[in-house]
Amino acid sequence: MRFTFVTLFSNLVEGYFQDSILKRAIDKELLSVEYLNPREFSENKHSKVDDTAVGGGAGMVMNPQPLYDALGSLKKDDENIHIIFLTPVAKPFKQNDAKRLAKKEHIAFVSGRYEGIDERVIEEFADEVFSIGDYILTGGELASLVICDAVSRNIDGVLGNSESLSVESFETPLLEAPSFSKPKDYKNNMVPSEYIKGNHSKIRSIKLALSECKTKFFRPEQLLKHKITKR
Ligand code: ADE
Repeated sequence: MRFTFVTLFSNLVEGYFQDSILKRAIDKELLSVEYLNPREFSENKHSKVDDTAVGGGAGMVMNPQPLYDALGSLKKDDENIHIIFLTPVAKPFKQNDAKRLAKKEHIAFVSGRYEGIDERVIEEFADEVFSIGDYILTGGELASLVICDAVSRNIDGVLGNSESLSVESFETPLLEAPSFSKPKDYKNNMVPSEYIKGNHSKIRSIKLALSECKTKFFRPEQLLKHKITKR
């Protein structure tokens, strides 16, 4: 999988690939990461990329020209590139999207800064538009990293054996049951006794009960979905 980050601030993104699982995936050539700065395409003599909003309103909006030319050059190099814009004005990103996008060959993430991106760029180039949650970030870079991370771990070979994908929250409507590491007794707090005894069918049923408890507490609407799919 190839990822291209279209951003004015690639420094904000680069660090994330310098350690841990995604670095290993790059070393194994399962992923590659590139950066494209729209400023390099600006025809303005001061390389300006933003301006005040037409029709008024607070803040600066990213101009169409640098982004049009940057994204046009990406599409010219790879007509199958899948272009994703990050903005709070979009559908919420979900685990199903992560699994679906893991099958693409080349994804570009376009991050806006300032008050946003001229809508004509989104209309022209977006294959998809995502929000990562109901809050406003200072730019799309963090959101693009969130999505890139969630997609990457669904690419074959990216996770090692010890970092399994099998029973995870959001693979089903239930949140995952709590996990414990050693020692079994830590500062007088015990791991649940059923986990210790090693009866696997018992452990499975206790984990299901704990999953339902967690889901009821944190995400009651998800528990309802679980009950409907169980019927
Ligand atoms: N840019 C600013 N806030 C965002 C959000 N919540 N999701 C995606 N992109 C954003």
